[in-house]
Amino acid sequence: MQTLKNKRILVTGASRGIGQAIAVDLAKHGAKVAVLATRLANLEQTCAAIAAAGAESLPLEGDISQASTAVNAVKAVVDAWGGIDGLVANAGITKDNLLLRMTEEQFDQVIDVNLKGSFHFLKAVTKPMMKQRAGSIVFIGSVVAAIGNPGQANYCAAKAGLHGLARSAAMELGSRGITVNVISPGFIATDMTSDLPEAAQDAMKKKIALGRPGSGQDIAGAVRFLQSPDGSYITGQVMLVDGGLSLG
Ligand code: NAI
Repeated sequence: MQTLKNKRILVTGASRGIGQAIAVDLAKHGAKVAVLATRLANLEQTCAAIAAAGAESLPLEGDISQASTAVNAVKAVVDAWGGIDGLVANAGITKDNLLLRMTEEQFDQVIDVNLKGSFHFLKAVTKPMMKQRAGSIVFIGSVVAAIGNPGQANYCAAKAGLHGLARSAAMELGSRGITVNVISPGFIATDMTSDLPEAAQDAMKKKIALGRPGSGQDIAGAVRFLQSPDGSYITGQVMLVDGGLSLG
């Protein structure tokens, strides 16, 4: 069903993993999708899948920790399609280390990409969305923001920061018809999680009530709901899509 017909949505970190699954799913449901990654060449596969779904894509390049990337990306979408209806701030990184060994650089890099990068994009879409008096903003958080994770203090702090950012933005922008929410994935099988030591992967998997790791598609379904008219009365919320991992 074309629940997103004529929607113009920007997805960051769309070259692989969860972001790629989200971008292709949005396209399959009728959206035009602007996709951003650090390198344009890495977006070929995503754009081919969007074209195969019969939808239009707009590939964009840049480092999301730089404010200019967000400003230029949003301008490119508005110039190409006349406005912007949705943002999915998905791009993220990990720089794991135990606290005693964690460097200031590792802390800063994760905050700069995961938290500040989302802020840059939030700020850049605010003006055009306020003008339209409509918009859906989704940050991709993480279950560990709520429960913590040894070796990921920087990552958990950055992802928890998104909760406050979303709630405050939801209060500021609600009167203009703009929703701001966080979707927090649990353990999803991607390149990011395959880098984790096997013991850490096994420990996480054992906690999942549904007994399986999630897929990018599991996250894409929740994102699509919030980007569609069906999710338009939900704002300032953190939605866990974790197969019950956070239940303990
Ligand atoms: P991934 O590592 O497979 O993909 C990350 C994407 O972000 C790539 O497209 C990469 O090019 C892009 N990216 C990274 N740094 C960037 C930067 N500075 N500027 C522009 N693009 C950049 O990761 P995955 O697993 O698909 O994760 C996507 C999001 O979901 C991240 O925010 C991650 O923290 C979050 N997440 C992932 C979980 C998992 O189990 N895989 C669990 C919970 C949250």
